[in-house]
Amino acid sequence: MDATSASASARGGAATAKPIEVAIIGAGARGATFARLIAELEHLGKVVAVAEPRDDVRAAFVSQYGLPSANVFASWEAFFAAPRLCDAVVIATMDRDHVGPAVAALERGYHLLLEKPMATTLEDCRAIEAAREAAGVIASVCHSLRYHRGFAEVKRVVDEGRIGDIVTIDQLEQVGYWHYAHSYVRGNWAREDQSTFMLMAKSCHDIDFISYLVGLPCQRVSSFGSLTYFNLEHAPAGSTARCTDGCAVEMTCPFSAPQLYNDGPLRDWLPLPPSQAAAPTREARLSALRTGPYGRCVWRSDNDVVDHQVVIMEFAGGVTATFTMTGFTQQLARRIRVHGTRGELTFEEGGDSPGDRLVLTTFGGNVEHITVVPEAGTHGGGDRRVVGHFLAAIASGDRSLILSDVTASLASHTIVFAAERARRNGTVEHLLPPAHRP
Ligand SMILES: NC(=O)c1ccc[n+]([C@@H]2O[C@H](COP(=O)([O-])OP(=O)(O)OC[C@H]3O[C@@H](n4cnc5c(N)ncnc54)[C@H](O)[C@@H]3O)[C@@H](O)[C@H]2O)c1
Repeated sequence: MDATSASASARGGAATAKPIEVAIIGAGARGATFARLIAELEHLGKVVAVAEPRDDVRAAFVSQYGLPSANVFASWEAFFAAPRLCDAVVIATMDRDHVGPAVAALERGYHLLLEKPMATTLEDCRAIEAAREAAGVIASVCHSLRYHRGFAEVKRVVDEGRIGDIVTIDQLEQVGYWHYAHSYVRGNWAREDQSTFMLMAKSCHDIDFISYLVGLPCQRVSSFGSLTYFNLEHAPAGSTARCTDGCAVEMTCPFSAPQLYNDGPLRDWLPLPPSQAAAPTREARLSALRTGPYGRCVWRSDNDVVDHQVVIMEFAGGVTATFTMTGFTQQLARRIRVHGTRGELTFEEGGDSPGDRLVLTTFGGNVEHITVVPEAGTHGGGDRRVVGHFLAAIASGDRSLILSDVTASLASHTIVFAAERARRNGTVEHLLPPAHRP
């Protein structure tokens, strides 16, 4: 049963049962997305509580979901100090604030849907896995690519043996110059000390998918990459601290915040107070750019995460994989090429162009274009299925619906931490004990 039908049948089967009651911990961008998805799956789940410190955001959330005051908290600490009040929690706080609420949730017996990354250190990831083992509840990490319509098709075709055995994989993450500027120069993930390193923040999905697809332990990994461009050294003459400070090149700059946020690809991405967010005016946007982080010059900010990185991996049996993350692309889209003993498979997200493309070539020249049915929503419908599978797994007790449990996530996070060590230290990191090394 594929991801969609599992979710659909669970939804049908659970239609008469009481919906799973869920608390949202951190009602920011992702918490709001999860809450909306739960509300859309109304036969399966219901949002019944929230923990969120920002008063205006919390008040808007409470009003949207009609929450009673007893179920409203200003922090995850306050939420978990109260008696258990629902079945499950979604943890969508920022990266450095995952381990605390995740372990607290598991110790109190809540089922857990945890945003990626699990945590920002390997020790904390292990602590979450140990707490899950002790609790015995359902715990899912939001690795959306495992549930993404197109990537799920790649997994299905490979698992059916249609390209023989995997020999090597090449995956490309095109972050999009505008998305890179928004999130990794001006925004939440620009500084490692405030979030985590780039490979973990952005690409733990990719390393996770590669390891899921190969299905074998990773034995060696290395990596290269750096922050080459978004620094003072590259600031054009006449540029200013903010685009709105009279910058001499603003009109022709591809990273101009007024252009990106007013008329460009970021027009719906600027975080604004709830009172302005529903129908933001040009003036509201400009005011936010004059004072907030998103109006800063991309060469004069305080960012320190890499803008490009490559990772090379060797799995058991000699299967190899390469991964590239780059901020220097027009499109926000991923591509994977899988080369097997009997053929090759390429999947490419459409980005701005209509339609994702999945092409299977079997040696001898037979080429099959496999239809990937377009699906609305973030991550190729993956976020919706992450939530659907989580709720369905709790309702049915069927853990196999969770494609990305904490043990699987810990395994792929281990590769990500090792890759980052290799990048910093110029090493090849060995992940298997010496007795098992090639
Ligand atoms: N799966 C994906 O593809 C994906 C995509 C984007 C973000 N993420 C991850 O989701 C998480 C949230 O990202 P976001 O963009 O929603 O960030 P955000 O800043 O919009 O939301 C975080 C929220 O947590 C709240 N918060 C802070 N301290 C808190 C506390 N003590 N108790 C409760 N809430 C608290 C903040 O006020 C904020 O509303 C991050 O870990 C991020 O890496 C995952």
